[in-house]
Amino acid sequence: MRHRSILLIGGSGFIGTRIASQLAAAGCSVIVPTRRQARARHLLVLPTVQVVEADVFDPATLDALLQRCDAVINLVGVLHSRPGQPWGSAFERAHVELPRRIVQACRRQHVRRVLHMCALGAAPDAPSMYQRSKAAGEQVVLNSGLDATSFRPSVVFGPDDKFLNLFAQLQQLAPAMALGGADARFQPVFVGDVAEAFVQALDERDAFGRVYELVGPHVYTLRELVRLAGVYSGHPRPVLALPDAIARLQAFLLEHLPGGPLMSRDNLDSMKADNVASGRYPLPPHWHPQALEAVAPGYLAPR
Ligand SMILES: NC(=O)c1ccc[n+]([C@@H]2O[C@H](COP(=O)([O-])OP(=O)(O)OC[C@H]3O[C@@H](n4cnc5c(N)ncnc54)[C@H](OP(=O)(O)O)[C@@H]3O)[C@@H](O)[C@H]2O)c1
Repeated sequence: MRHRSILLIGGSGFIGTRIASQLAAAGCSVIVPTRRQARARHLLVLPTVQVVEADVFDPATLDALLQRCDAVINLVGVLHSRPGQPWGSAFERAHVELPRRIVQACRRQHVRRVLHMCALGAAPDAPSMYQRSKAAGEQVVLNSGLDATSFRPSVVFGPDDKFLNLFAQLQQLAPAMALGGADARFQPVFVGDVAEAFVQALDERDAFGRVYELVGPHVYTLRELVRLAGVYSGHPRPVLALPDAIARLQAFLLEHLPGGPLMSRDNLDSMKADNVASGRYPLPPHWHPQALEAVAPGYLAPR
């Protein structure tokens, strides 16, 4: 590959782990900064991946990391923030401020190739703060003058997801599932396919300045996804759709759970618009995502 030394910011997480392992398999050396070394321990088995404890918001730290790299991938994202205008401060920091600091550091260090993780449905007028702040961060990267590519996945599934696995676990415990946004539509995409899209685009000149949507081959309502998670994990439960007002109350209560929110009113707002391919942006060329039915039973099945 032409780009061989990659700074993978957010590389310790669910999607980052897959990208790190595909980059390592392609012969790249990868630096993964993390706030806590222990969170990225699982990456240490990959021979060309180096994990460093670092504050990626610090310009001098970013400069030092980029000096050893010829491309950067930024995956940092958060699902929850306290409310704020135009969005909460945690969204501002992770989705807008960090991309700004990364492009500034890239300019200083003459690193031109930037791959950025946005999200399907991101738009200045989207229903949720998460999506609006993601759109603002994407604009920072696309308008940077660097060789940037942005990716917009629908919800991502795979062995360590916190999505189908969560629905499966809840159905082991509860006699029924009470669901807000039950009719919201999604086009889930496999984490291995998301990683492949990033790795394929890295050296692809046609990808410079482009936005790609990343979606799987089929569309499902949230209710159908919960039902499938129950069936594949061996504990199918009845799914009850909550009326909007009750769903909001449920989200408010889940927002205040000790140990961090399981779900928030902003997450519920995201579901006001379908999370499916918009047609405004292409899918990556020569990219053939797998169906959920082909992958999810393998990791949700009771052991
Ligand atoms: N999963 C999905 O279904 C999905 C769908 C659409 C878009 N996305 C986007 O894809 C990206 C990755 O998602 P994921 O599911 O892999 O997330 P994840 O497992 O939660 O990983 C998030 C990563 O971001 C880093 N991070 C989070 N907050 C940070 C902060 N304040 N400062 C520095 N680093 C921070 C974490 O690093 P530490 O090691 O420091 O904790 C971690 O490596 C996100 O931008 C997300 O919005 C995800």
